[in-house]
Amino acid sequence: MNSPAMHGLQLNTPDFVKHPRLIAWVADMAALCKPAAIHWCDGSQEEYQALCQQLVDAGTFTKLNPAKRPNSFLACSDPSDVARVEDRTYICSARKEDAGPTNNWMEPAEMRATLGPLFDGCMAGRTMYVVPFSMGPLGSHIAHIGIEISDSAYVAVNQRIMTRMGRAVYDVLGVDGAFVPCMHTVGAPLAAGQADVKWPCNKTKYIVHFPETREIWSYGSGYGGNALLGKKCFALRIASTMGRDQGWLAEHMLILGVTNPQGKKYHVAAAFPSACGKTNFSMLVPPEGFAGWKVTTIGDDIAWVKPHSDGKLYAINPEAGYFGVAPGTNYHTNPNCMASLGHDVIFTNVALTDDGDVWWEGMEKDTGTTPDHLIDWQGKDWTPQIARETGAKAAHPNSRFTVAAGNNPALDAAWDDAAGVPIDAFIFGGRRSTTVPLVTEARNWVEGVYMAATMGSETTAAAVGQQGVVRRDPFAMLPFTGYNVSDYFQHWLNMGNKLSAAGAKLPAIYCVNWFRKGADGKFVWPGYGENMRVLKWMIDRLEGNAKGTETGFGVSPTYGEITWDGLDFTPAQFETVTSLDKADWKAEIALHTELFTQLAYHLPAELTATKLQLEQRLAA
Ligand code: GTP
Ligand code: SPV
Ligand code: MN
Repeated sequence: MNSPAMHGLQLNTPDFVKHPRLIAWVADMAALCKPAAIHWCDGSQEEYQALCQQLVDAGTFTKLNPAKRPNSFLACSDPSDVARVEDRTYICSARKEDAGPTNNWMEPAEMRATLGPLFDGCMAGRTMYVVPFSMGPLGSHIAHIGIEISDSAYVAVNQRIMTRMGRAVYDVLGVDGAFVPCMHTVGAPLAAGQADVKWPCNKTKYIVHFPETREIWSYGSGYGGNALLGKKCFALRIASTMGRDQGWLAEHMLILGVTNPQGKKYHVAAAFPSACGKTNFSMLVPPEGFAGWKVTTIGDDIAWVKPHSDGKLYAINPEAGYFGVAPGTNYHTNPNCMASLGHDVIFTNVALTDDGDVWWEGMEKDTGTTPDHLIDWQGKDWTPQIARETGAKAAHPNSRFTVAAGNNPALDAAWDDAAGVPIDAFIFGGRRSTTVPLVTEARNWVEGVYMAATMGSETTAAAVGQQGVVRRDPFAMLPFTGYNVSDYFQHWLNMGNKLSAAGAKLPAIYCVNWFRKGADGKFVWPGYGENMRVLKWMIDRLEGNAKGTETGFGVSPTYGEITWDGLDFTPAQFETVTSLDKADWKAEIALHTELFTQLAYHLPAELTATKLQLEQRLAA
């Protein structure tokens, strides 16, 4: 099959693709983008190795020292292409109100008219990769399939780690199965004879979603969530609209299993904004004093959560790998993660050591020393002295690793289970140096939805823009909800109503904050593995073994209810991370009011009522 518009380019459809509509779409996209060649990915190890070698030859990848880091590579991006671009991200629903005030919106026809000329010929001189992937276990009733068309081999190899990618996807699709078309280009066509650069991209960027037709169009970036379209674009923005329509949830949540010494297992899903501790928490190693406790990872970034006929909510991790933040990761903060990174890893924007290994800020805590010399993420010489004088970071603050879930020593046995795992509790946590206490349990579902909806967090390097400023980040989904966020709150309330009407016991909801700082500007709570102490209190609550104390905000632990074995943490320190300051909370509530004013259209009345009660309690 070959369309006349393809300028003699061969489509070369492999015989394992038997889906006429899909083939016609690929032909149309080839006619539009005008690549030099088409490569239908089969997901094999041979293909992965060949593409990695091709990336080495192109200068995009540096092969790391196989004695130190077998089968691993370092990619360093263009300095202008290092994180998600939220101000270039659009939800193009037919009606502006359906995108809501927290999303950029453009009328769909206008956006198509904008993208048309940009995509016309955008792949000239490049290979167009057709990347089939399943979000979730192949064939699971909770899973969905996407096909990403991309002119980036870097995207193809990352997608093989991050998703179930390969020809088996076509077996599930058959001749007419549903798939989400995901168009991606770095937006850097090559003229005849023009030499390529190591990291092609374009100053102009568009990350576009059409929720009604379930399409994704991404232009101009090769980095992370901008380019690996199964992740934020599909599994959160498009999937959240699917969930709204079909009665399930797509969330920016890790999923973990926690087993107590008696062998009883609980499952927890926790939402934290980008670069606020999901990967860390999902791989938590219980500290000394927690003998017999075990934490296992189901997912580190995204959860798809569906009600089951037994009245419980079941969650799957739609991904198959981790695209995690490198800086700050070390054997103290996340030993399981470090153990995951021994081989078969793609690193992006970390530093290269003189012996061909990788390095990032935070590793000095393991070795006690900082290397004398590195090549930083921008390819420049880096020494501790240069760092002192210029403040240059060896690794970009949003540098990341891509690694298969199978590398994680703490991987849960059920991580790939098509049925998912039953959720006992949801956790929502922001990065707040003041105001928000260490842990609070919502007294009921509505109060929990309120806590999640009004959550604030200090911005991080995961998105381009100012860092460290507090913004509202409802459900840690601010940049990821593919529809009106007030309707999203309503959807959460509806899910709760439906489940409890059917007699189900709803998961408990907790609000946490690991990030309170003291007068010295340092984190007071030790965090990381020590977060187990908070997790255990939650389980004690679930089992009816901790009474807690009512604060104006919800139910919090008393000092005596936390297990302190192996940690020196005084009641005074505990007070510093748990106290509710009247003035702070007055200011906080004012920010809730501001948010609710912004979200007034379709804002559930229950949330306004909950705010009123909260104000009254805090004033009392
Ligand atoms: P995305 O992949 O961007 O969605 O983020 P994530 O939530 O998975 O982020 P990750 O776990 O990689 O968090 C990275 C940042 O959070 C690093 O700066 C860590 O040092 C910090 N962090 C994680 N857990 C803790 C903690 O318990 N306490 C403190 N103080 N910092 C933490
Ligand atoms: C995030 O920013 O929340 C991430 C990284 O998980 S990215 O895939 O780039 O969106
Ligand atoms: Mn994320």
